[in-house]
Amino acid sequence: MKVVIKAENVWKKYGSTIALRGASLELREGETKVIIGPSGAGKSTFLKCLNLLIRPDEGRICIDGEEITSLKADIIRLRQKIGFVFQEFNLFHHLTAVGNITIGLTKVKGMSKEDALEKAKRVLKMVHIGEDLWNKYPAQLSGGQKQRVAIARALAMDPLVMLYDEPTSALDPGLSSEVLLVIKDLSERGITSLVVTHEMGFAYEVADTIAIMNNGRIIEEGSPEEMEYMKTKEARNILNRWNGMKNGVLA
Ligand SMILES: Nc1ncnc2c1ncn2[C@@H]1O[C@H](COP(=O)(O)OP(=O)(O)OP(=O)(O)O)[C@@H](O)[C@H]1O
Ligand SMILES: [Mg+2]
Repeated sequence: MKVVIKAENVWKKYGSTIALRGASLELREGETKVIIGPSGAGKSTFLKCLNLLIRPDEGRICIDGEEITSLKADIIRLRQKIGFVFQEFNLFHHLTAVGNITIGLTKVKGMSKEDALEKAKRVLKMVHIGEDLWNKYPAQLSGGQKQRVAIARALAMDPLVMLYDEPTSALDPGLSSEVLLVIKDLSERGITSLVVTHEMGFAYEVADTIAIMNNGRIIEEGSPEEMEYMKTKEARNILNRWNGMKNGVLA
């Protein structure tokens, strides 16, 4: 399978804090990779570097074979290949569920209003948002519904890969599982996904690979089955702590 994201030796400093210290990662077409690691490990910074919401100080990132970190890169075009879902939904408050999705399709993709509406309905169905909610504003939706609209909005742009940064950490457990089930469903449909999460059960069930991040870099990775055989003590310690908080949302 072709490599969709390749990040090599990515460094990022915020003042005197070194958030990334040579982080590297490869994501292949159709793969679902889950990144785990302690708070402050650099997970969000790394994800944001992948579509250049943050520009790394050093390192090279290629999306679909094109270097997004090159100064000559067409960042706007490359960014369209990546769907990004944040912890805090980031919906437009003045637009309905449908409006949140059609705006990108008409403004960025140049689609007609009719086609954009059709597409919006299609992706909303994929995330199990029923017709009764299509014309509601974000304030009228639950957290889980908002997050599913945010996922639908990213999906509507036909990205090559979906990045999720702790998509459920702002939600109550019941609402979390409805969002995780949608992400799992998309992953099973073959949508290439990179997910930062603390949801253990979900990671073990959905991930093809789990990557462990600590101190600004990916220290080890492997399939869920391989997690028992991590080579470094650093990785084993993180896993032990993580296994301790297994809440099994999907397990
Ligand atoms: N905008 C910023 N300005 C200064 N320091 C920052 C900024 N964003 C992050 N940091 C620091 O960089 C390091 C990595 O932060 P990051 O948010 O990437 O970690 P994380 O792994 O996503 O953590 P969490 O699990 O808590 O979300 C931390 O030490 C953090 O304090
Ligand atoms: Mg984070």
